[in-house]
Amino acid sequence: MKNIKVGILGATGMVGVEYIDFLINHPWFKISTLAGKKSVGKKYGEAVKSLKNVPREVEDIEVVEPDPKKFDADLVFSSLPSEAAKDIEVRFIEHGFPIVSEASAHRMNPDVPLMIPEVNPEHLELIRIQKKKSKGFIVTTPNCTAVGLVLSLKPILDYYGISKVVVATYQAITGAGFPGVPSYSILGNVIPYIKKEEEKVSEETKKILGRFNGDSIKYAGFPVEASCARVPTIDGHLEAVYVETEKEVKVDEAIEVFRSFRGEPQKLNLPTAPKEPIIVTDLEDRPQPRLDVNTGTVPGMSIVVGRIRKGESNNVLKYFVLSHNRIRGAAGTAILTAELLLAKGYLE
Ligand SMILES: NC(=O)c1ccc[n+]([C@@H]2O[C@H](COP(=O)([O-])OP(=O)(O)OC[C@H]3O[C@@H](n4cnc5c(N)ncnc54)[C@H](OP(=O)(O)O)[C@@H]3O)[C@@H](O)[C@H]2O)c1
Repeated sequence: MKNIKVGILGATGMVGVEYIDFLINHPWFKISTLAGKKSVGKKYGEAVKSLKNVPREVEDIEVVEPDPKKFDADLVFSSLPSEAAKDIEVRFIEHGFPIVSEASAHRMNPDVPLMIPEVNPEHLELIRIQKKKSKGFIVTTPNCTAVGLVLSLKPILDYYGISKVVVATYQAITGAGFPGVPSYSILGNVIPYIKKEEEKVSEETKKILGRFNGDSIKYAGFPVEASCARVPTIDGHLEAVYVETEKEVKVDEAIEVFRSFRGEPQKLNLPTAPKEPIIVTDLEDRPQPRLDVNTGTVPGMSIVVGRIRKGESNNVLKYFVLSHNRIRGAAGTAILTAELLLAKGYLE
């Protein structure tokens, strides 16, 4: 049993509330400080913007400013909007805090790990480079759409090699924060544009699947072509994936490659690690967001892959992948990353 005090920046938003759910009974982390912007001075229970009740234990905590001096914490999670994260996160690093952030502001900085703990735990070594320049450090987690895609690509990359990826997405409305997309724009509709999303999916995928060469990351060399759309579902980003592989693909073998995939969090038995990070469904019309988004031993932490099939060429694999955007795509991956940091000794 460890006892690490954690603070949350952006605690009152859509993702902030998911942190609370995971942290309230966490065996290692204890919530100490909750920060917001418009809700500063209010009680957390009154300030939360998501359509979700918050646990009694945190209802009366007063929301504070995003100021390092107000934080009584050993570790800080950030779910700030990216613009705000740029300066605020730097201030926290300068004050010596370790930060795990899901904002995009610092994700592509060469010294900053962009983490999916099952995929690239070795990238955490970049922290040693940051520590030469500052007291604290920052580790980021990817865009919610990239998480499901990359986690599904990792076993394919390791087994077959990848020469090209094409992905089309069907993204839930909660991915846009609260209040998010106006109801009149999205109900009964599909919006085939999400600002900067396609660029993020492409660039982040190549960074996460890149190789750490001792002092920097050499990005994966294959193209990633993304087309992203917002659809009127609540939670869960669904993605139609087309992968060109270096070796010939066999469907039964690929299913086993997905099913048997395990990463460092499973080996270390981390508290938020799902037993199976990738769950394969054999049903012909799945995965579906409403039915499958919470599948697995830790609800929201497994991705679900289905409709696995070959393309016209022997070197093409096609499938759908579903991931929970606020959990695996945000708070859950950040907490799993923090658990890995602790297990690997980076928080000492
Ligand atoms: N929603 C998702 O599925 C998802 C997935 C992955 C990553 N993300 C990323 O996570 C971050 C948060 O997303 P969200 O959906 O939770 O957004 P959100 O619902 O709009 O919440 C934003 C939070 O940030 C605070 N905030 C806003 N401006 C601030 C400022 N200038 N200074 C300090 N705090 C400020 C807000 O506090 P007040 O309420 O007090 O104003 C609120 O707590 C974003 O960077 C987003 O891109 C979201």
